[in-house]
Amino acid sequence: MKKSESSAGWTEKKAHFEQMVEHHYKLMLKMAENLLSEDYDSKEHEKLGEGNLAKVFSVGHINPCCIKIIKKPEHRTIQNNYSFDHEFDFQSIVSRMSRADRVQIPRVLSSVSDSEAGLDFFFMDKVDGNSLRQIFEGEANLPENFDMDVFFGKLEKFIAEFNNDGYYHRDLHSGNIMVDKDGNPWIIDFGSSIHQPGASDDIFSEQMPDGQTIHFTSDENSLRKVMRETAKHLTNTNK
Ligand SMILES: Nc1ncnc2c1ncn2[C@@H]1O[C@H](COP(=O)(O)OP(=O)(O)OP(=O)(O)O)[C@@H](O)[C@H]1O
Ligand SMILES: [Mg+2]
Repeated sequence: MKKSESSAGWTEKKAHFEQMVEHHYKLMLKMAENLLSEDYDSKEHEKLGEGNLAKVFSVGHINPCCIKIIKKPEHRTIQNNYSFDHEFDFQSIVSRMSRADRVQIPRVLSSVSDSEAGLDFFFMDKVDGNSLRQIFEGEANLPENFDMDVFFGKLEKFIAEFNNDGYYHRDLHSGNIMVDKDGNPWIIDFGSSIHQPGASDDIFSEQMPDGQTIHFTSDENSLRKVMRETAKHLTNTNK
């Protein structure tokens, strides 16, 4: 084959590949748009949960993963200084601190931020479990082998080291702590987190675009609150 013929073949293949990528990218944007809309009947993509900022759906069966799609600002109840890039970058760094025998953090896989479509979403590991909030609200049960002391012991140790290294979650409520089917803890949702080594008190308050100041609770105190809620839940369910 002459050189010019082979390079013509390659140009064609490259153009075809680019078309395919564009087509799949558009399909992915359409899927995210549909998943965000309230009336979408999502049978294939199981909804895993929803917070103030985002909706999370299960995608894929081979490597269980999920998609976190950020709601449009008008659909959020609380407006804050949220940055999609910051959340994604922060979680990609801290997920490397995950260890199966202590606290785990879902690894982020890839992100799409399309300003024209007004869509931001990323893919991450799907936790095979539920948030403590879902459990408190009766949507799921604690696993049989759940040991409260071991569970919170791991979380306390992790948060102490995390804070010591200058990482602060700042939104450690029961919706952001998950328990997997083996009873192990996972921390999710780093939308309010910061990394500020050698930080002082001012890391727990922040000025909003409208001039208001919001105050965050320390990770240690938030964890204590979740611990009390879990103890209460255990007492109520063992009655
Ligand atoms: N990786 C995951 N695997 C399984 N379920 C998840 C995962 N990430 C989130 N969820 C579920 O989706 C819910 C909402 O996710 P997330 O906390 O990230 O949203 P959010 O809008 O940022 O929350 P917040 O209201 O705390 O700001 C979680 O409480 C949890 O039930
Ligand atoms: Mg959350």
